[in-house]
Amino acid sequence: MPRPENPHLIDTFGRVATDLRVSLTDRCNLRCTYCMPAEGLDWMPGEQVLTDDELVRLIRIAVEMLGVTDIRLTGGEPLLRPGLEDLVARITALQPRPKVSMTTNGIGLAKRAAGLAAAGLNRINVSLDTVDPEMFKKITRRDRLSHVLAGLAAARDAGMAPVKVNAVLMRGVNEAEAVPLLKFCLAEGYHLRFIEQMPLDAQHGWNRGEMITAAEILAMLEAEFTLTPFPVARGGAPAERWLVDGGPGDVGVIASVTRPFCAACERTRLTADGAVRSCLFSNDETDLRSLVRAGARDEEVADAWRATMWGKLAGHEINDAGFAQPIRPMSAIGG
Ligand code: GTP
Ligand code: 5AD
Ligand code: SF4
Repeated sequence: MPRPENPHLIDTFGRVATDLRVSLTDRCNLRCTYCMPAEGLDWMPGEQVLTDDELVRLIRIAVEMLGVTDIRLTGGEPLLRPGLEDLVARITALQPRPKVSMTTNGIGLAKRAAGLAAAGLNRINVSLDTVDPEMFKKITRRDRLSHVLAGLAAARDAGMAPVKVNAVLMRGVNEAEAVPLLKFCLAEGYHLRFIEQMPLDAQHGWNRGEMITAAEILAMLEAEFTLTPFPVARGGAPAERWLVDGGPGDVGVIASVTRPFCAACERTRLTADGAVRSCLFSNDETDLRSLVRAGARDEEVADAWRATMWGKLAGHEINDAGFAQPIRPMSAIGG
């Protein structure tokens, strides 16, 4: 199908991407067992990582020319990016001003939340799979639960609302954490979402039987709480939400595998080394870094981005027989 003249990031299924997820680094200071091996990964060589100027230029093109309205900073761990506060300030100075949020593991956030809010960061999501210190150590291979809890509190105190918590449950590991996590988040005023584990780990060890499904998560929660469907339409959001015990607290489930939400996807992705991906699960991507370093004009870069998104597939195909996991692990794409 020929691509129509349209400045925005449209695809052949009628979707429009307005939400740009930018990975700032592939490095991380935790070693979650479901994400990467204990020894870490071969990180991207420094010269391949976009500089701040290159990154801000690409985000400016997305905002000014492609209709992107929301920027989500991810990693690896985005707090490890040197000069993050300056980068946030440069992104929030763009016009029209995008909403900027970040997904982080929370290590080091306690000291930086106020500065990030001052730089214009609107919201923060923190990954936390347990509120038990021993279990945290087992899952992340680091003894840092107290740092994450302090980071969460600092984000709330800095006024970045709502503060969301992302949790992945694994069979035989932390499934008993579902109820304690929700009680903790309700008490602290955080919005908890459980994520079904996806085949995106660096070790390629994902196995459907180990994934705790949305149905199982809801059954565990319903044994303790009354859940009613959230009264506001979901739009393109990955999380399906419920009010807990009549509200105002709520809980979400991101059921990428058993209840895919690809048909309403509004996302486009930029990796730390400058590749644009139309989907978390894309098998091909477009190298914008080479274009930028070869001196391409804004309009050429914008058009390469549009062409990539025009080729976006209907969905992720995890449930199809021929599914092949993408070469890049989650930590090098951004969640
Ligand atoms: P907000 O609700 O606006 O804060 O955004 P969000 O839920 O997209 O934010 P977050 O970065 O916290 O994403 C949570 C998780 O949703 C990610 O870690 C992924 O597991 C999942 N997710 C986000 N985008 C996609 C997507 O396009 N496809 C799939 N399959 N999963 C996604
Ligand atoms: N499947 C689902 N979620 C994952 N995350 C990391 N790896 C996976 C996976 N394979 C989560 C992290 C974090 C967010 C960025 O993505 O726990 O909450
Ligand atoms: Fe780091 Fe996130 Fe992977 Fe854990 S899930 S190792 S916090 S990138």
